[in-house]
Amino acid sequence: MSDTSTQTDTIQIDTTRPGLARMYDYLLGGSENHLVDRTLVDEIAATDPGVFAAARANRDFLIRAVTHLTEEAGIRQFLDIGSGLPTQDNVHAVAQAIDPAARVVYVDNDPTVAKHAESLVRGEGNIEIVLGDVSSPQGILDDPRLRRLIDFDQPVALLLVAVLHFVPDSGDPWAAVRLLVDALPSGSYLVLSHVSLAELDELADTTDRAFEKRNIQLNANRTKAQISRFFDGLDLLEPGLVETTQWRSAETAPRKVSDMVIYAGVARKN
Ligand SMILES: C[S@@+](CC[C@H](N)C(=O)[O-])C[C@H]1O[C@@H](n2cnc3c(N)ncnc32)[C@H](O)[C@@H]1O
Repeated sequence: MSDTSTQTDTIQIDTTRPGLARMYDYLLGGSENHLVDRTLVDEIAATDPGVFAAARANRDFLIRAVTHLTEEAGIRQFLDIGSGLPTQDNVHAVAQAIDPAARVVYVDNDPTVAKHAESLVRGEGNIEIVLGDVSSPQGILDDPRLRRLIDFDQPVALLLVAVLHFVPDSGDPWAAVRLLVDALPSGSYLVLSHVSLAELDELADTTDRAFEKRNIQLNANRTKAQISRFFDGLDLLEPGLVETTQWRSAETAPRKVSDMVIYAGVARKN
């Protein structure tokens, strides 16, 4: 891994406000989180205790998707935007267990991720960490760390897993996805999941209030139809856009783990 000190050295991490990456780490049972992070999660869990299982199911979807793409589709390059802290079953651990030559670029706009990631994956080959925002996709594509590792003449799996609900409509996440996908060659894939609280009044209210109180904008009121627009122009693999637990699950009757709905899908660019 190259030295990421230039992108994180001058950044101060604010641990008085909740951080999305640290909250997600708590949801997954990790220890890279603080009381402010846990308090916000616990507020939401008071209405839906299943949010912990929902986060796990989302992560399990990501692992199944990466396994499928590495094993069955021959993908060896992964661009994981909104990657979270690389503490739990990372993309590189999953892909490199199948082929040690698999290359992974992690991108997150939370400086905690870049700071922690540097030490957590120090010395591991074929991994880069980029501090970047999916709302500025061209900035991500132009980053020299990404350019060093990703060959845009070869297929890439673009991962946007549980991140786009943090981008408001005004930031046009659909245009950001289009720009990223347009940069990839044919044979590439999009792996995406998105929380949808559109039909869940009580949980949506609790969740919106909890986030708003901390000045964090959540855009989880998007419907399945709005989320499916992220895949426009791509070929959705079977079983299409479904709840995370239903995406190629080994379970014959996938459980409903939470009130929270997280839609997930994988699509190919032809
Ligand atoms: C719920 S976690 C998802 C982690 C991982 N993708 C997964 O699904 O297992 C969301 C991550 O997206 C990051 N994030 C939120 N908004 C972002 C943005 N605009 N650009 C890049 N990353 C963002 C957060 O910091 C957090 O680490």
